[in-house]
Formats: sequence, C-alpha cells, structure tokens
Amino acid sequence: MTDIAQQNTLGFDDIQTAATIVAAHLPPTPMWEYPQLSDVVGARLHIKHENTQPTGAFKVRGALNLLGRMNPAGLARGVVTYSTGNHALAIAYAAREFGAPCTVVMPEAANPSKVRAVRALKAEVALHGVNMADMERHATTLSAGNGFTLVSPGDTPELIAGVGSAYLEALHQLPAADAIVVPVGAGTGAAAACLVAAQLAPACRVIGVQSSSAPAAHDSWRARDLLHRPNETTVEGLATGRGFAVPQSVLRDHLADFLLVTDEEIGAARRLLATHAHTLAEGAGAAALAGILRHPDRFTGQTIIVMCTGGNAGPTELATLG
Ligand SMILES: Cc1ncc(COP(=O)(O)O)c(C=O)c1O
Repeated sequence: MTDIAQQNTLGFDDIQTAATIVAAHLPPTPMWEYPQLSDVVGARLHIKHENTQPTGAFKVRGALNLLGRMNPAGLARGVVTYSTGNHALAIAYAAREFGAPCTVVMPEAANPSKVRAVRALKAEVALHGVNMADMERHATTLSAGNGFTLVSPGDTPELIAGVGSAYLEALHQLPAADAIVVPVGAGTGAAAACLVAAQLAPACRVIGVQSSSAPAAHDSWRARDLLHRPNETTVEGLATGRGFAVPQSVLRDHLADFLLVTDEEIGAARRLLATHAHTLAEGAGAAALAGILRHPDRFTGQTIIVMCTGGNAGPTELATLG
C-alpha cells in the first residue's frame, strides 16, 4: 500500500486540482508562433515552451502534483523512482520542494551530466543495470527495504494529472487550436492532452508522435493492447519498450492519430527549432514538430499547438545542431 491515491480512473477534475498545486510552484510557460517556422509547413504553429521549465522539461508538473498530494508521513519516508533523465530530474526537483528524501535509480551507463543534475537537486542516485526493467526491479527492492513510495514513470495517475496543467494553459492561451501534437514515450503527456481537449475543445484533435525505433506506445494504441517492442531510439525521452496501461486506457478512447518518425527526422526538427524559433530542444522536445514536417498536408492552413516538451539536449544533440 502506498499513501498515493490509488486511482484507476482519471478525469478532468484531477487535472484542475493538479493545476492549482503546480501553479503554487511554477509560472505558466510561454507559447509563441514563429512566422518563419509556420511558413515552412503552411500552418500556424504555436510552440508551447516546456523547455523553459526549471528542470528543462514538462515532467516536473507531474512530479509536483504527485508529491503535493502525499501525506506528511509518506513525504518523510521518501520516494524512489527509475529513469534515465527528465522524470528523474522532475521527481528530484519536487522532492526538494516538499522536503522528501528521494532516490533515483539510473542505468550504470547514465549520461554523467544528468547524474550530476539529479545530485545537484540533493537526490540519491543509485546506478544499476542497463535497461528500464533492471532499474525498475532495483527501485522495487529499494522501496520494499526502506519504505520509500515507488513511483512508476508511466502508470502513476498523479503524474498524468500534473502534466495536464500544461494543456490547460495551452488551450487557454489558444482556445481555437485545431490540433495539439504531442511527443510520446510512455504516453503520460498525450493522455493528459486528450483529457483536457475532450473537456475544453472537443473539436481539437490530439495527435501523438513516437520514434519508429521505439514504437511500443504507437503499436499498443493501434492494437488496443499492451505490447512490448524493441527500444532502439537514440532519443532519450522517447526510449520506451512497452505500452503503459494507464495512459493507453485514455489514448484508446481519445487520441485522434498517432504518427511515427525516424530519429533522423527528429534531428532535422531539432535543427529547425534552433534556426527558425531560436529554441534549444532535445530530441523528444522536437518530435512533435518532426511529425508535422513528415505529414505537412495533414496540417495545411490549421492552427496547431506544438508541444516542445524538453530542452535537455545531450552532448551528441548539441554537437549536431549545425
Ligand atoms: C522531453 C520529453 N518529451 C516527451 C517525453 C515523453 O513523455 P511520456 O513518457 O509522458 O509520453 C519525455 C519522457 O521522458 C520527455 O522527457
């Protein structure tokens, strides 16, 4: 038993409640249209800048909601999670905000700069294993041995509710949007977008984008099942090998379409954001734009919210900006 609400259903009310918790810690992020970028596609692209969050990615919203809803005893015991990057930073940031001990299991070969960033937020880093399954097992052991609350990066409703605050903001900023395009790893962001759009703008399509080198969420959505798929993408935030039940249950009913792009197309979108929108995005943060660039005909003349979910570009991504 954890002291986190064990919800199987997640609704718009949860997102509204989460938004008040998130707003106590973070200002809204900006959203801008860059005419030069819009001209490339022939659509009005509005970039929602989650790359400007203090941790460099949208995930911090979910973590603040999760920790903000824990009781004092649970906070005192602490939390443990597993991640290669932005989810780790998010939980570490929120744990520092709420004074909770935090342990993050990261892979043995974790990017050293991300390990340093997590440690700078005063979280413990346990380097263990090579893949998500190894890390999850180790985090489960640490949770059982220490009384830490185990946080699943994909199947925790509070994380989805928290990241939903980004879509509340976006649809208040641009209520007439025809579509919201969202990068997908586990699918928490896309699920949240679906719940918010269904309530505030039912005619607005939510479209997911995933790497064709790690298509587990995409294939799960098409098959209406939870599938495992090879995880061979170099795009960190999208590197997921299986479908997650909680986000898939929402995507199944609400997602309008799901696009696949190559890692090379994501790289091209990253460079376009740098040259046409003076924006430093990491690969996952550029994937939504990559989906639009792959199928411009589907967006011609429309007004689109493009989620730039993160800016934590790694050394290779920085080296390939030119
Ligand atoms: C920058 C960025 N964008 C998108 C995603 C995908 O989010 P989700 O796993 O909620 O689908 C992640 C996941 O870590 C991420 O870090």
